[in-house]
Amino acid sequence: MADQTRFDKVLTQCKQIGQEHLLAFYAQLDAQQQDALLEQIEKLDFKHIPAWVEQYVKKDGMLAIPTSFEPAPSYPAQPKTAEQKDTYRKAHQLGETLLRQGKAAGFVVAGGQGTRLGFDGPKGNYPTSPIKKKTLFTIFAESILAASKKYNVDIPWYVMTSPLNYQATVDSFEKANYFGLKKSNVVIFIQGTMPNFAFDGTIFMADKGTLATSPDGHGGSLKALADSGALADMKKRGIEYLSYWQVDNPLVHVLDPLFIGLHAMDGAQMSSKALLKAGPLEKVGNFCLVDGKVTVIEYSDLPDEQAHRTNADGSLVFELGSIGIHMISVSFIETLNAGGGFALPFHKAIKKIPHIDAKGNPVSPDKPNGVKLETFVFDALPMAKKSIILETLRSEEFAPVKNATGVDSAEVTYQMMIDRAACWLEAAGVQVPRKADGRPDCVLEMAPSFALFKDDVQSKASSVSTIRSGDSVYLE
Ligand code: UTP
Repeated sequence: MADQTRFDKVLTQCKQIGQEHLLAFYAQLDAQQQDALLEQIEKLDFKHIPAWVEQYVKKDGMLAIPTSFEPAPSYPAQPKTAEQKDTYRKAHQLGETLLRQGKAAGFVVAGGQGTRLGFDGPKGNYPTSPIKKKTLFTIFAESILAASKKYNVDIPWYVMTSPLNYQATVDSFEKANYFGLKKSNVVIFIQGTMPNFAFDGTIFMADKGTLATSPDGHGGSLKALADSGALADMKKRGIEYLSYWQVDNPLVHVLDPLFIGLHAMDGAQMSSKALLKAGPLEKVGNFCLVDGKVTVIEYSDLPDEQAHRTNADGSLVFELGSIGIHMISVSFIETLNAGGGFALPFHKAIKKIPHIDAKGNPVSPDKPNGVKLETFVFDALPMAKKSIILETLRSEEFAPVKNATGVDSAEVTYQMMIDRAACWLEAAGVQVPRKADGRPDCVLEMAPSFALFKDDVQSKASSVSTIRSGDSVYLE
């Protein structure tokens, strides 16, 4: 048996918070398993678990909706006035300077479980591009490589995984030889976890020697960056701005000079891209102002009458949806983690959680039996002294692969990748055959090495051969 004093201490701590069942099978484990179990339990947040159980597990628990909130202001996708055009031009220039100076890095959160897509393995390995079937990780890596070439600087890439998909992610990067990036410029790290609770507040055991846990949500990234050493790595490299995106969106502009520039020019700490919602009830968070602070109110929390409110011109009052694209100042991540750290609110998800019962027999529930708690990164926005929002266009930058079929599925993403390539080509004067319904009558794939932005196509247009109906055209 492992050290008795250590065991006694852990048992006492567990008893104090009503979780002593976690050690029920301890005597049946070998020394190594005992050690691993004690280590897992020692890492639990004993101080806060009772309050979480009361607030989130036993009660409905979610945050109260603020009593008063208004729509958040934003920079439009296209500058309208002469003054705005000037601001955008200067911001773009500043963003490019910061990129050239090596002050910006990419950051993808890829620790999710991707249950809706049901893909075996890290979602970043999902084959997504229309012709070459490049994986999401490949597309991002090629974009970073193209930006590194454009700005003549090595741009580091931080990749957050969960304990569940860390090794598989590292293996796929290794196998692909880091997709052409220098291994030393790719930092793959692991996010934190949260225990899974039964409805009565007890923590589930996955097996006799392991607690049932799940990744602590994309909000966990702000802490994991510090805990993993990624923050220290950024500081060593002189990185000041972290461009954050989600692993499921192949259209994202991974390093957008305009966004970096506006964020830096305004002295913002954490900023967001937004798009105009497709309808009042679209399942995206709503950008609001609460006590003057940019705050995202979840679609499920925004009262229907607020969601449907319209302006005189018919547009929605709460029209800006959150799409998981942020610019985060490295100094902000440092401030958040300084001293006693910070706490984001939890969001509760009622899920089917496999576990063992009191006799140690495995249980695979066929209906939801417990609670998973996650934090969301946008809940850090109100903690920022300054936060700006830049609107973007759905067709330009948002085609997440979330579901196997239907809305936000790979099929939709496939078409949107072709549509965007067609628009970019046409904007540069290249003719694209279209069907009667307006959709491109060809399959197009534009590699990041060909263009990262619409304007990049201009100089390449003359090299594109005539595109005919039914063609498959890969541009690199
Ligand atoms: P989603 O909310 O789409 O969750 O994550 P998911 O786990 O990937 O998919 P479902 O809900 O199980 O189908 C949005 C982004 O946040 C990351 C995901 O990898 C994705 O990029 N994420 C989510 C994390 O990095 N860690 C988490 O704990 C949760």
